Amino acid sequence: LRGVVAMDGPSGTGKSTVSRRLAGGLRARYLDTGAMYRAVTLGVLQAEADLADAEAITRIAERAVVSAGTDPERPEIRLDGVDVGVEVRGEAVTKAVSAVAAVPAVRAILVARQQQIIAEALEAEVGIVVEGRDIGEVVAPDAGLKIYLTADAGVRARRRRAQDSAQGRDASIDEIQADVRRRDEFDSTRATSPLRRIADAIEVDTTELDVAGVLAVLNGLVIE
Ligand code: CDP
Repeated sequence: LRGVVAMDGPSGTGKSTVSRRLAGGLRARYLDTGAMYRAVTLGVLQAEADLADAEAITRIAERAVVSAGTDPERPEIRLDGVDVGVEVRGEAVTKAVSAVAAVPAVRAILVARQQQIIAEALEAEVGIVVEGRDIGEVVAPDAGLKIYLTADAGVRARRRRAQDSAQGRDASIDEIQADVRRRDEFDSTRATSPLRRIADAIEVDTTELDVAGVLAVLNGLVIE
C-alpha cells in the first residue's frame, strides 16, 4: 500500500483490531488517532482540570507532547515521553475523552500532528491506515480509500465487554452499553468534526462478520 486508508466509525465495531491487521498485512504504517485524544485526556485528568473549562484544556493540549508510534505490531502512545498505553485505556480516560475531544483547539492541535505523521509516511512512500472518527472528512480528505465501519449497538457493547474482560475489567453489559451510547451521542453531535458517514466512504457493516470476514472485505477494496 502506498496511500492512505481512512477508517472511521463508532466504538465496538472492531476498528482498532481490523485497522492494525490490515496495516500489518499491507506492510503499511498504522495510526490510532483515538489514542492521541486519550493521551491528552490523561494529561487533563492528571492536571485535575475542570472538564467544562475549554481554556484550561486547551492550555494543557498545547503543552502536551503526544507521540503515537506507527508500527501496527506494537502501537505505542506517549505523553511527555512516558509510555501511557495502559493508562489511556482506563475507565477514567474513557469517561472523559469525548468531552476533551469536543474542544476545537484540541482537535486543531491533534489533527495537525496526525497530518504530519501521514505526510511522513507518504514521503517515505509507505502506506498508512489511519483510524478515528473524522479521518475521511478532516484528517485525510484525499485518502484513496475511506471506510465507515458499523455494527448494531448490542453487538458493539458485547465486543467492548469482551475487550474489557481481556484487560481484567468487569463492567456490566448495561454499563458498557450506556457508555457506548453516551459516547456515540457526544461524538456525533459535536460542532467540530462530528462522527458521520461521509458520501465517499464505503460502509462495512460488521454485525455478522468476524475479524477475518471484515479483513476479507477490506482487502478486496484496497488498490495497492
Ligand atoms: O476504541 P474506542 O472507540 O473506545 O475509542 P477511541 O477510538 O480510542 O476514541 C476515543 C474517543 O476519542 C472517541 O469516543 C472520540 O470522542 C475521540 N476521538 C475523536 O474525537 N476523533 C478521532 N479521530 C478519534 C477519537
